[in-house]
Amino acid sequence: MTTAQPSAKATAGRGRFISFEGGEGSGKSTQIKILAERLAGVKLHAIVTREPGGSPGAEIIRHLVLSGMGKLLGPDAETLLFAAARDDHARTVIEPALKQGTWVLSDRFSDSTRVYQGALGHVAPGILNAMQRVTIGDLKPDLTVILDVPVEVGLQRAAARRGTAAADRFESEDVDFHQQLRDAYRRIAANEPERCVLIDATEEPAKVAANIWSVLRDRFFTTSTNSAAASA
Ligand code: TYD
Repeated sequence: MTTAQPSAKATAGRGRFISFEGGEGSGKSTQIKILAERLAGVKLHAIVTREPGGSPGAEIIRHLVLSGMGKLLGPDAETLLFAAARDDHARTVIEPALKQGTWVLSDRFSDSTRVYQGALGHVAPGILNAMQRVTIGDLKPDLTVILDVPVEVGLQRAAARRGTAAADRFESEDVDFHQQLRDAYRRIAANEPERCVLIDATEEPAKVAANIWSVLRDRFFTTSTNSAAASA
């Protein structure tokens, strides 16, 4: 259950689930790494995971969809592949970790399906909702950090990172696709402010990290829940 400022009592014992979302080159993996280190610094154990993938079964599906195989099957079937991967990932990795009190930082989660397959792939909301119900049920992130960068900046960063390697299934889409992607994420952030935060990711990584940390501090840490984190 998500609230803007959960009380220590409501969440005692359970880890926090934070997903990171954004378009190509938005810097998700850099920010996740910094956040995991920062949480460790205040004695909070976090696992870093990703979608599609994050569990052995889901990693096999990742390989399949990013190779472009899913595209050949058509949008609905490709969405089913992402859903199957998420089902395995949620059941075998995310839920057990949260139950043990471990924090989970996931590079992408269900908003990626809403944006890539829904807003851009035109898969009907009814299909997306049905898949979500049978895969993750009520599981949703306590916080979703949406890293926002102008399309040109994101694509330049992604190209620099890739070097001479070939663009994957989604990186090879055109600029218009990436603009729609950005718009779709911004809509989610505007529609669900209690769960999502839109972070300007054009800034220096250290500044972006500081902004994310300040959101966590406001939402999760009070002096009674974690005094080290509240004062960090
Ligand atoms: P990845 O190499 O992890 O890229 P990124 O650094 O952008 O996260 O590739 C994952 C790709 O899969 C990415 O382009 C988004 C896409 N994707 C979907 O289309 N639907 C989904 O549900 C998920 C989780 C990812």
